[in-house]
Formats: sequence, structure tokens, C-alpha cells
Amino acid sequence: MIDTHTHINMIEGITVEDVLKNANENGVDKLIVPAANPKDFEGIMKLINKYDNVYGMLGVHPSDAKDWDDKLINEIKNLAQNKKIVAIGEVGLDYYWDKSFNDLQKEIFIKQIKLANELNLPIDVHDRDAHKDTFDILKEYNNGSKVVMHCFSGSVEFAKECIKEGWYLGIGGVVTFKNAVKMKEVVQAVALEHILLETDAPYLTPVPYRGQENQPAYVKFVAEEIAKLRRITLEEVIRITAQTSELIFKI
Ligand code: NI
Repeated sequence: MIDTHTHINMIEGITVEDVLKNANENGVDKLIVPAANPKDFEGIMKLINKYDNVYGMLGVHPSDAKDWDDKLINEIKNLAQNKKIVAIGEVGLDYYWDKSFNDLQKEIFIKQIKLANELNLPIDVHDRDAHKDTFDILKEYNNGSKVVMHCFSGSVEFAKECIKEGWYLGIGGVVTFKNAVKMKEVVQAVALEHILLETDAPYLTPVPYRGQENQPAYVKFVAEEIAKLRRITLEEVIRITAQTSELIFKI
């Protein structure tokens, strides 16, 4: 399995060594660590240089849009010379936490889309309570980068619109929650070839560990739930999602 979105730099309860050991013992071969804030860049570069199976993304999360500085464009370009930087992320719009700087979020999102295009890297998108604006901005500004809607949280209808654009859906622990009816429907309704596995650790821990700190090892519960919902084998879920992830991120 490939955990395509996992903040192992933010896990507090166990060491990175143990995180990676648990992941390995639970069938996770590769992990991709997104940045949320420029402060994360240094740690991510260290992780990808130290561990063969850890890859990175660079970007500024919409909630941290105020920490954006145009100097970051050159910094990211330089750091992305390292081939283990495999995407720009996580970037996008978040109207859930704070609606007071939506316009700034949009501006920074657009700048990072253009940067991804220039670097020929995929875009790992954070969209919370901002489906329409996220979709419209990507449609207008993205010129050729592959798009992953990380922690997809929309309806079946929105999922289908995204897939029509050729985008991919990152599915995480929420799909295991009993009340996540909409997510379960999405997973049943779209082609498996458009689904990626992720944990978004340390957040959104799947059942049966819901409430505890999340880690990449738990991505198997996501894969198992998808297999159950689609009435296919776990092996098929693992094989197809790994194939798609390798194709998108060139890992
Ligand atoms: Ni995240």
C-alpha cells in the first residue's frame, strides 16, 4: 500500500522510526508527506533524504495562507530539484476554520497551481467546505498538472465532476466511520482507478482506532473498507491504488 498523504512529521506519540516500522509491518511500502507550512520544509527534506520509501510534497496550506511569501516560489523550485519531491501540496481552500481571508487563500492557491504547472508536478488539494471555488479555480488555472482531491469530502455528484476532469480522490479514515454515508457512496460510485489511499495522519484515525493518534500503518483499514464496500478483494484494492499512486507521483 501507499499512504499518499501522511504527516509523519506531526505524529507525537511515537518516534518516526517506530511509525515507519509499524507501517512496514502493516504492508505500507511507500509514504508521501505533505507540507502545511513553510516551517515544515526542512523536516520533510530531512525525512526524504534519510528514508528511501518516504517522499515529500511542498506547499502552503490554505489555513496558513498568511505565511505565504513570494520568495517561497524560488525556494520550492530549488528544493523540488530533489526528485523525491513528488507534488505541490497541500494547497487549496479551507472555509471551515476561518472565512476571513478567503480571497487571500484563493490568491495563494492560484500561485501554487501555477508553480506546480511550471515544475510539472501533481497538485495535492485540500478542499474543506469550499468545493465550488476549489473546482472553479482548478478548472480555470490548472494547466496540465495531475490533481488529487486529498481527503475527498464531497457528494457522489461532485466526485463524478472531479473524475470527469481526470482528477483523483484521496480516501482516508473517514470512510470507515459508521455515519460517513456520503463517503461510502462515493467509494462505491467511482472507478477504483481514480481512488488513492491515505491516512492524513495524525488526524482522521480510522475505526477501530478512532479517537487515538493516526499513523500510516492504519491505512489498511481504509483499504479493507473500500474492498468491503465495492465487494472486491483487498488485494485488488491494494494493487490498483498502488498502481495509480505510482503513476501520478512517479514513485
Ligand atoms: Ni493533510
